[in-house]
Amino acid sequence: MSVKDLIIESLYAQLSEHLSKEEIDKLIEKPSNSEYGDYAFPVFTLAKIYRMAPNLIAEKVAAEIDSNLFEKINVVGAYINFFIKREEHAQNVIAEIIEKGQDYGRTDIGKNGNVPIDMSSPNIAKPMSMGHLRSTVLGESIALILEKINYKPIRINHLGDWGTQFGKLIVAYKGWGDEETVKSDPVNELVKLYVDFHEKAEENPELDDQARQAFKKLEDGDPEYTELWNWFKEESINEFKRVYQLLNINFDYYTGESFYNDKMGEILDLLEEKKISKIEQGATIVDLSKYDLPVALIKKSDGATLYLTRDLATAYYRKRTFDFVKSLYVVGNEQSDHFKQLKAVLKELGNEWSDDMHHIPFGLITLNGKKLSTRKGKIVLLEKVLLEAIEIADKQITAKNPDIENKDEIAKQVGVGAVVFHDLKSDRQNTFDFNLNDIVQFEGETGPYIQYTYARLNTILRKYGKEVATDHPYRLNDEHSWEIVKLLQQYPEVIIRAAEQFEPSVIAKYAISLAQLSNKYYAKVRILDENEELESRIQLVKAITIVLKDALSLLGIAAPEKM
Ligand code: ARG
Repeated sequence: MSVKDLIIESLYAQLSEHLSKEEIDKLIEKPSNSEYGDYAFPVFTLAKIYRMAPNLIAEKVAAEIDSNLFEKINVVGAYINFFIKREEHAQNVIAEIIEKGQDYGRTDIGKNGNVPIDMSSPNIAKPMSMGHLRSTVLGESIALILEKINYKPIRINHLGDWGTQFGKLIVAYKGWGDEETVKSDPVNELVKLYVDFHEKAEENPELDDQARQAFKKLEDGDPEYTELWNWFKEESINEFKRVYQLLNINFDYYTGESFYNDKMGEILDLLEEKKISKIEQGATIVDLSKYDLPVALIKKSDGATLYLTRDLATAYYRKRTFDFVKSLYVVGNEQSDHFKQLKAVLKELGNEWSDDMHHIPFGLITLNGKKLSTRKGKIVLLEKVLLEAIEIADKQITAKNPDIENKDEIAKQVGVGAVVFHDLKSDRQNTFDFNLNDIVQFEGETGPYIQYTYARLNTILRKYGKEVATDHPYRLNDEHSWEIVKLLQQYPEVIIRAAEQFEPSVIAKYAISLAQLSNKYYAKVRILDENEELESRIQLVKAITIVLKDALSLLGIAAPEKM
C-alpha cells in the first residue's frame, strides 16, 4: 500500500460516515515545508459535523490513529501532520521500481479498450509545417501515456486529401506545371504551383471557375485527374513519412478525408429520416441553437459536402470499426467550434457515444516569431527545423564528448528530442514562440538536460560495475534522497493525471523536477564513495534512471545511455 493510501485508510476508519475515500484523498495536502510532515490533513470540513473548534477536532481524530504505522503524528492548529517511516517506505518504493523496471507505473485502467487518435493529419500537396508538429507529437505522447495504463491507442492520420484545392492544383499543373520539375522536389514544387495559382487567379478570376470544374471532374472519377491526384498524394505521403521517421512515429491508418467519399450518403439520409436536418435556400443544415452553436452546414446548395459532413461519416465509421471507449481528435483550438458542432449533430442523432469523443485542442506555435501560412508561401518546414536541431545537437555533443560512439544516432535523438520536449513541456493550450538555439541546450528546462542527466547517472552505474541488488536494505535517510524517493513514488499517479487530462506536459514537468532534484543530489553527495551506504545510493540512482527513461519514453523521446 502506498503511504498516501495508508493515511487515507487510517482517516477513513474514523470518518467513513462523513467522508468518502475520494474526498479524503482530495483534502490531503503535501506541506511545502517538511517540518510539517510529509502529508497533512486539514479538518475544517469536519467543523460542522463535530461542532467543535478545528484544533480540538484535529486532536481527537489524531488520537485515534494507530501511531505505530507512522514515524510521528502531530497536530498544528487544524492540521494533522503525518511523518512517514522513511526508511521502511523508501525501501519499498526503491525495491518496487528496480523489480518492475519499465513496468513501474503500469496499471490496467484502460482494460485494453480501443482509443482511435486522430493526429497529425496534414494536408496533401502542402508541406508539413510546424503547425502540424504539435498535433503529431501531442498525439503520439497521448497514445504512449494511454498505452501505459492499458488502453489500446489506434493512430490515425486523417490526411486532408480531398477538396477544391485539388481542382486548383490540377489546373495549375496542367496549365504551367512540368512533370520532371515536380518529380525533383515534389511537395515544394506543388506548393509553388498552388501559390502561383492564387496569384494568377487574382488577375484572372476565370481560373477559379476552371478549378471548380476540375474538382467536379475529379469527384466524378475522371481517370486522368484521378491519376494526377493519386500521384500528388503518393509523393506527399512519402515526404510526410520522412518526418515521421525522424520522430519515430508510426500510424496504424492513413485513412484521409477521401476515404469517406462514399460514406456520407448514409448520414445525410439518417439526418433527413430523423427530421434533424432541413433545407434552407437549397442547402442542408442542422439548427444547433439549443446547443448555443452556429448552424451546421451539411450540404451546400450545389450538392458539395463539407468538412463537417466528412467528420460525421468518420465518427460513425470509427465507432463501428473500433467500438471505441474514447475517440480523440488532436487538432488546433481554432477548430473548437467544428468539433462542438460535430458532437452536437451526433447527439441529435441519438448517439450517446458522442460523449466519448474528445477534441484535444492546442495553441499555435511560431518559430522565431514567424507565423505559418501556405498561401503566401511563408512556410517553416518541419523537416528543416528537425534537421537543424540535429545539427546543433551534433555540435554540442562534439564539444563535450568528441570520441563518442554512434554520434550521429545520438545527435538525432538529442536534436529531435529537444524539439519534441519543448513542444510538450508547456500546457498544450499555451501559444508560444521558440528559438532553436535556446531549446537544444544541455542546461535549463530542456529535453537535452534530462537526457544528459540520464546519461550521467548511467555512467555512474557503469563505473559501479556490479549488478544492482534489490534485496540489499536501503538505508538512506537524508533530506535530499528522501525528496527524490517521494517524487519517484508519485510517478504512477502522475501518469494517471496526464492521461485524464490528455496533457503530456504533466509528464514533462515531472521529468524536469526529477532531473533537477537528482542533479542537486549528485552535486552534494559522492555517490561512488566506498562506505556502507554505497549500495543504497546505487539503488537510488538505478531507480531514478528507470523512471527518467520511462518518462522520456512516454513523451516519445529516446534516452541515450551515453552523451
Ligand atoms: N487536415 C486538417 C488540418 O490540417 C486536420 C484534420 C483533423 N481531423 C479531423 N478529423 N477533422 O487542418
